[in-house]
Amino acid sequence: MLIHTIDEVREKVKEWKKQGFTVGLVPTMGALHNGHLSLIKKSVEKCDKTVVSVFVNPIQFCPGEDLEKYPRTLDADEKLCNDAGVDIIFAPSPKEMYGDGHILSNDFLTYVIPPFFYVNKLCGKSRVGHFDGVCTVVNKLFNIVQPDFAFFGEKDRQQLIILKKMVKDLNIPVRIIPCPIVREENGLALSSRNKYLSDEDKQHALALSKILFNIKACYNNGIKDVSELSETAYSYLNNHHSLEYLEFRDADDLEEKKTADDNTIVFIALKIGNVRLIDNIALR
Ligand code: PAJ
Repeated sequence: MLIHTIDEVREKVKEWKKQGFTVGLVPTMGALHNGHLSLIKKSVEKCDKTVVSVFVNPIQFCPGEDLEKYPRTLDADEKLCNDAGVDIIFAPSPKEMYGDGHILSNDFLTYVIPPFFYVNKLCGKSRVGHFDGVCTVVNKLFNIVQPDFAFFGEKDRQQLIILKKMVKDLNIPVRIIPCPIVREENGLALSSRNKYLSDEDKQHALALSKILFNIKACYNNGIKDVSELSETAYSYLNNHHSLEYLEFRDADDLEEKKTADDNTIVFIALKIGNVRLIDNIALR
């Protein structure tokens, strides 16, 4: 069932809760692919009722990013959700979520601001304010749907870690369920932004997963020194790539690692033309 208003979702959820059903929430920005579908399937399996939100959240895009051209495919998303057994597709308008006014300014909107230590690195460094927008909208979705479980992909690992921290710090009564990265057979992590890539760019994009898989293989072969592991990346890079970061950080608190261990995540962000792609791997 496709619903556009907050009131209608609240009403439905209230009925479910009265009947003792557990509720799962899968927040998305739509243009759904098999990565999203894996989260949806997990929720449908685990919870009595599943809500998928489809909302291209304007306040998490920085100036000059792809807010306008972000793919919007609601009809196809609705079909995919219905086929997967989703109970509600919640697709609000920006006005429904934020009302009128200067929504991109925290002069007029209450924001949830994650801790500086978690956002001053990796994607937060180049996307200033991005995680404020993510935490604010996810917090709103939690308040609207009041899910027992919420499903997030490890594809956006920094986002997942920050949202877990938000739930802990703000005592939000929801359990976050992390879901593994879904990849194409060739290793490329699925992403709505892959739609921006030409066939040639897609070949260049394989560098991300190749670098990560190779680092993991080297780690498993006994190399623990981070600078030595980082060095191995360069043979996969050419002049089509612009490396934004390749960093080794703790899986729980994003602390930097000089020596890799089993709780290390390797994070990479790479630009191919104008398209910025991210990926990560756990060395476990
Ligand atoms: P979006 O990019 O649409 O992703 C929605 C969810 O799908 C996120 O939890 C993301 O990590 C997960 N996901 C995307 N690609 C995946 C893949 N290849 N494998 C596994 N999971 C994958 O992330 C957002 O939207 C937004 O920031 C949101 C949380 C909805 C807030 O607006």
